[in-house]
Amino acid sequence: MDEKSLQIVLSHLPITQIHYHPSIGSTNDTALVMLEQDALDGTLVVCDLQTAGRGRLNRRWITQPGSALAFSLILHPTEYEMSMLPLFAPLAGLAVCRALEQLNLKPEIKWPNDVLLERRKICGILVESSWSGSKLKGVVVGIGVNVAPSSVPPDHEVLFPAGCVEHSLGKPVERTDLLASILDHFFSERKGLGSLPFFKAWEQRLAFRGEHVRVEPPGKPDVTGVLVGLDEAGQLVLRSAADEIILISAGDVARLRPMV
Ligand code: BTN
Repeated sequence: MDEKSLQIVLSHLPITQIHYHPSIGSTNDTALVMLEQDALDGTLVVCDLQTAGRGRLNRRWITQPGSALAFSLILHPTEYEMSMLPLFAPLAGLAVCRALEQLNLKPEIKWPNDVLLERRKICGILVESSWSGSKLKGVVVGIGVNVAPSSVPPDHEVLFPAGCVEHSLGKPVERTDLLASILDHFFSERKGLGSLPFFKAWEQRLAFRGEHVRVEPPGKPDVTGVLVGLDEAGQLVLRSAADEIILISAGDVARLRPMV
């Protein structure tokens, strides 16, 4: 992977600038700094080695060289998109799913936006917004994908078992092609953000539908129930043991686990 090959493979997309780093702390951190310096919508920060990558709920996300995708996209949401900022993470999840489906894989989305293959997490997404008072400066969509087996952390180091694309596919994957495909789907799906087809596409790919799950919102009691699906606002719908419907907002930084 290098800046020149990225420029060629991404030339048909609305990417305004590509910043490739052989090694970086965190692509999200760099993108957030660039947002302060007025980086344009569609600016992309990509790396090979990521030494201080960040995940949701203050977790770490380290990316080994030559083995994974780690990138961040800077966006300036439109007026319409501003009313649905929590949907940018599922949008990214959906784009990753669509790219994997083109490889004939069967990805699932562990609500709200982790992507699974064979019930193992292969992609994490961290969306961060930058504000100046009440004015939104922009959004950074950070995506990490485990591509080769060397990118997969051992089970004892992670809360949910991890996998990788090449293991599920059974053959090597060209990282720049996968990146181009994810971004291609991201920009197509962005046009339908918050629409009914968007929620349907997200719901169709939800992992653990009809199964017992536990949702752990930080600082709040856990919620358990059977995962029913999504409502028309993207909230997770659970049915409790007392047959009550429980809704959990996509904006909650909750963790979802299957119950064993
Ligand atoms: C998670 O599952 O907890 C989210 C992980 C997000 C990791 C990506 S890798 C690219 C971008 N830069 C970061 O520091 N984090 C995101």
